[in-house]
This record gives sequence, C-alpha cells and structure tokens, in this order.
Amino acid sequence: MLIRKRRGWEIPESAATEEALFHDRRRLLKGVAAGSILASGLAGLRGIRPAFAEDAVTRNPRYTLDRPITDAKYSTTYNNFYEFGPDKTVSDAAQALKTEPWTIKIEGMVEKPITIGVDDLLKRVGGTEERLYRHRCVETWSMAVPWTGFALSKLVDMAKPLGSATYLKMTTFMDPAMAPEQNKFFYPWPYVEGLTMAEARNDLAFLVTGMYGKPVPKQDGAPLRLAVPWKYGFKSVKSIVSFEFTDKRPNTFWEALQSSEYGFWANVNPDVPHPRWSQATERVLGTDERRPTLMWNGYGEYVADMYKGLTKERLFV
Ligand code: MTE
Repeated sequence: MLIRKRRGWEIPESAATEEALFHDRRRLLKGVAAGSILASGLAGLRGIRPAFAEDAVTRNPRYTLDRPITDAKYSTTYNNFYEFGPDKTVSDAAQALKTEPWTIKIEGMVEKPITIGVDDLLKRVGGTEERLYRHRCVETWSMAVPWTGFALSKLVDMAKPLGSATYLKMTTFMDPAMAPEQNKFFYPWPYVEGLTMAEARNDLAFLVTGMYGKPVPKQDGAPLRLAVPWKYGFKSVKSIVSFEFTDKRPNTFWEALQSSEYGFWANVNPDVPHPRWSQATERVLGTDERRPTLMWNGYGEYVADMYKGLTKERLFV
C-alpha cells in the first residue's frame, strides 16, 4: 500500500457475476461433487483442499449485499499479500505458500494454551457457514464475496481468555524462504493485526476458510484468514498462525510502518479522508462504476455501538 498502488479501476473488465448465475454454478459444483468427481479433479488444482471442497455450507441469511457478488476471477487475481510481493498480481507467487500441515496457536492470556491443526479447529467450532460480505480496501477498491468460515467469537469462546485480556493479536506465518518479501528488512514482519475483545466477540468478525463454496485460495489467505468488513481491508489478516490474547494493544503491521496513514482502528468512514486520497467513493473490482462508500462499510447496525464514548481515538484511520 505504502510502496506502490495500482487501483481497482485500472482493471478494464466490467462484468460482475449476478447472484443467480453464481447459485447455478454452485449447484453444478454440488452435483459434480455428488458424483465424487470434484474431489479428485480439485485435488489437482492450485491451492484447493479436497477435504473442504465437498463440504456443503449453509448461507447465513443475516448478512445481505446491496450489489452483485464480485466474479471470482477478480477477487482471486487482484490481491494484497505483501509476503509474496508489493503488486496486486501476487496470485502466482502466492502458490509457494505451503498450507499443509497448518498449525495454529491459541496463546497468551487464556486458561490453557492450545496448539491445533486447522482441520481439528473446524471440528471444534462446529463447522462452517457462508456469509456474503463487502470488503473495502483502504486504497478505495472494494469487492463483495461469499466467504465460508465461522464466527471469530467461537474461537474466543473455545480459548477461554482471562478476564484481564483486552485485545486479540493475530499473526501471519513467518518463513522468509517460502515468502521472499519477508527478507526485506524495511517491513515489520511478520504481519500482525489486532482487535479489541469487544470487536473479536462481535458476530460480524469472521474467520474465513473458503470462498465461492471452495477452499480459500492461497493468494486470498489460505487456510485461515480474518474478515472484518466494517474495517479497511488491511485489518483482515491472512494465513493466520497465532491468536494471542493480551492486555497490550498490538502494534499492527501497517501502523508500525506508517501510523499517520494506517491506524489500529481503521473503521470505514467516507467522510474521513486518507492523508493522500479521499475515501468518499470506491471502485468495485470488475466494474467501471464508482459508488459512494458507506459509513462502517454499511455495517453500522452491528458495530457502531462498540465505539460510543471512544472520542479520543482515531477510529477512522
Ligand atoms: N494479510 C497478510 N498477511 N499480508 C497482506 O499483505 N494485505 C491486507 C489484508 N491481509 C495483507 C493481509 C490488505 S491491504 C487487504 S486489502 C486484504 O488482505 C486483501 O485481501 P484479498 O487479497 O483477499 O482481496
């Protein structure tokens, strides 16, 4: 973000998938899966984990969209994943990410620290559901995505944090041999993000394991990433290996790099410009249209109450 920006509106294509078409595609996928051809076919594709590919997920009707779902060809090829490069075209480079096995630590101020594989974690939280979420990058591009996953609050409940824990710190893998950009000393690796305990317990905070009814591709943060859609996209940390409960506010990756431009809170607000550009409008990936950005990215009814009284905080940077 800080180094070089190429924005969504530079993408020339204009078609976004209509939801009905997307459903048809999913029905087709399910039908093929029933014939158990899909698992063997998908196993040969990059980043696809057949164990998840056959799971049927139920869509949670609570979260609806005001725009069409973004076609996967945009959301899986126009990415931010700085571990694999500063450009948006990191999807090929990100295939170097080794996701199996994948172990997650739940640590810090908890009753009992846990180390658990991602598949076991999914069983412990009772499986997954699908949610349609908007995603708004601080760079002003946006997308609308059917994520598969589970509420972060389920992991919080499982972790049994101590009453003194006030923040949840989430950290991405650190492996400079696998992710060459992690050799660059001017970045504060590994990528760290954080939420308050109230934010982590908010039902909208979602841990993602899939996208478009399939396992989440490596470039989008396999095998486990965050989606906090009322915040700018950099808060949605990818490829998480650690959840640490703490009483210290985490020094997050972008805040450590440039705190005047990327803060801890990073809530979406069209009326608070980034120091170098307006946040009033956004470009949906795969379209030529600019649309007005919504306060809290349209999720105020779920989240605004959490911020009442925090008048001294830079809530929108
Ligand atoms: N997580 C890690 N580990 N590394 C990153 O570079 N980029 C962030 C966020 N999570 C990033 C990350 C930013 S700036 C955005 S906008 C989203 O991931 C992009 O997610 P997407 O590529 O799936 O659209």
